[in-house]
Amino acid sequence: MLNDLFQEAWTALKFAASGKEHPFNYCSLATAGKNGTTRQRTVILRGVTEEKSLLFYTDFRSTKIKQLKQNPKANGLFYDPKNQLQLIIKGNILIHTDDDAWEEHKDKIDGKAINYYNTLLPPGKPIKNPFSVERGKKLHFGLLEFKPVRMEFLKIKQDSNHLRARFRLDEGIWKQTFLVP
Ligand SMILES: Cc1cc2nc3c(=O)[nH]c(=O)nc-3n(C[C@H](O)[C@H](O)[C@H](O)COP(=O)(O)O)c2cc1C
Repeated sequence: MLNDLFQEAWTALKFAASGKEHPFNYCSLATAGKNGTTRQRTVILRGVTEEKSLLFYTDFRSTKIKQLKQNPKANGLFYDPKNQLQLIIKGNILIHTDDDAWEEHKDKIDGKAINYYNTLLPPGKPIKNPFSVERGKKLHFGLLEFKPVRMEFLKIKQDSNHLRARFRLDEGIWKQTFLVP
């Protein structure tokens, strides 16, 4: 049964990452900065690799990148309200800004999506007018590769038999156990 839960989680994540509509399209991604300050934000799940890395796109001038350079540890929270399913994923994030993987994903960005990465000022800078943000040709695109080392699965059930399980990567093998919900 633990195997089934593990598969269910990864099937849903892959489905969402393929661009099909699913609550796991969005993830709350938490990172930590200096002095233990934490910050979380919504990001779109853009891909799941064969190695079970989760891919996100961002502007490489953003605060999350500054934090990740200091501390690559991250935490992702996914929630599917229809199935009352929560996934908490812990791992490390690798920042790609100039390699083959980065190039491959940068080439996929077109149309309005370009505007997520082309502001002249970095994201988060104060501006006077939100309707005339200055943009340039350069794409400040960063690819985040989130490598999970631990996943917690929690499914809330009507009959109170809630299912909570932990999957932990140990020397390349996902060790699994149920937890008290
Ligand atoms: C629906 C939605 C989707 C978003 N998707 C992304 C995303 O895929 N990547 C991203 O960097 N920011 C995304 N954002 C913006 C972030 O939540 C955040 O405001 C921004 O990345 C700056 O975060 P930071 O200052 O902590 O780096 C999204 C916001 C919303 C509301």
